Amino acid sequence: MLSKKALGISPSSTMAIDSKAKGMKSKGIDVVSFGAGEPDFDTPPHIREAAIRAINEGYTRYTPAAGMPELREAICKKLQGDNGLDYEPAQIVVSNGAKHSLYNVMVTLLNPGDEVLVPKPYWVSYPEMVRLADGIPVPVESREENLFKVTAADLEKVCTQKCKALIINSPSNPTGQIYSIEELQEIARFCVDRGIYIVTDEIYEKLIYSGSQHFSIASLSNEIKELTIVVNGASKSFAMTGWRIGYTASNTAIAKVMANIQSHTSSNPNSIAQKAVVAALQGPQESIEEMRLAFDERRRFMFRRVSEIPCLSAVEPLGAFYIFVGMAEVIGKHYHGTAITDSDNFAYLLLENHKVAVVPGTGFGSPNHMRLSFATSLENIAKGLDRIEAFLEELA
Ligand SMILES: Cc1ncc(COP(=O)(O)O)c(C=O)c1O
Repeated sequence: MLSKKALGISPSSTMAIDSKAKGMKSKGIDVVSFGAGEPDFDTPPHIREAAIRAINEGYTRYTPAAGMPELREAICKKLQGDNGLDYEPAQIVVSNGAKHSLYNVMVTLLNPGDEVLVPKPYWVSYPEMVRLADGIPVPVESREENLFKVTAADLEKVCTQKCKALIINSPSNPTGQIYSIEELQEIARFCVDRGIYIVTDEIYEKLIYSGSQHFSIASLSNEIKELTIVVNGASKSFAMTGWRIGYTASNTAIAKVMANIQSHTSSNPNSIAQKAVVAALQGPQESIEEMRLAFDERRRFMFRRVSEIPCLSAVEPLGAFYIFVGMAEVIGKHYHGTAITDSDNFAYLLLENHKVAVVPGTGFGSPNHMRLSFATSLENIAKGLDRIEAFLEELA
């Protein structure tokens, strides 16, 4: 019998649909994929060159488990410059992607049975990571009228004595919504009053639109900073998903324990990728703006087009590269005799019959939604949405 805990973990639904679509494409099928969770841009040349230089200059050995000092310094400068946060390099732990950082955080914070508040819809991996660390994920219901953001009152409804931490993800995957400074202040007060840790996942902070602003909740006061673990990384901002570099900033005690855990599990993240991220943080930043502008154009086009399609609804995303599309009106309809029961079988029928990959909302805790990524060309967006519209027209 394998570990009950391990067997209880579901596979990542975002990765499942993406790999099915890629499999169909490799067989020559013309699939339009809205499943992408990564920029469709190449890593900028100066970052790639830094990696090549790192290889040639011999940065090919172990680094300290928590990351090379040069990178941790560069991350401190970034946090100071972008987020108004003062950290020492000893408070930074560099890991194999933000996903790994989040897992390290959960393992570091949780004792068996500790509860973690997870605002819903949530990124698919949060509940599973909490479970892997023997914690209990507690979904916090949000309301679409409040743009899927939770308030202190929403947290209050489900918070018990066992509550250890809250996960905040702004800009959000899957909804693309961003918490304002006032909303964060209210949440920060709630957590400080109860001594609840905040895990703030800020991986999409650079991809924001329509004049929105990103605030790190850690920057609101020293009290909240002490209770907060900031999670970020290079994947989305620098189109570096495959390089696998993420990091945390936290109080020194938490950082020490995380570095300790990492020293026994993965050791340091890839030394060459670390050097590349130093170049990413210290070098020209124009590529971020170019990517952001391209995403913004696609976002506006996709949102307009989705809003025109009968039976679908969406709240305009202000960050990240996803539109979370409501499809409640479609549930109960039939596709050539097969009932649409939720977004899972909707996504399956759509992919099989009209060759469009979308991510069902079930994995995000929202079975009547689907997530469409606009990290793909305008041409694909137009083609894919035409196909979705044609599919919907066949429903009875
Ligand atoms: C909300 C969120 N957090 C974290 C991650 C993980 O990023 P990384 O590639 O750095 O592990 C993702 C990736 O999809 C994400 O969407």
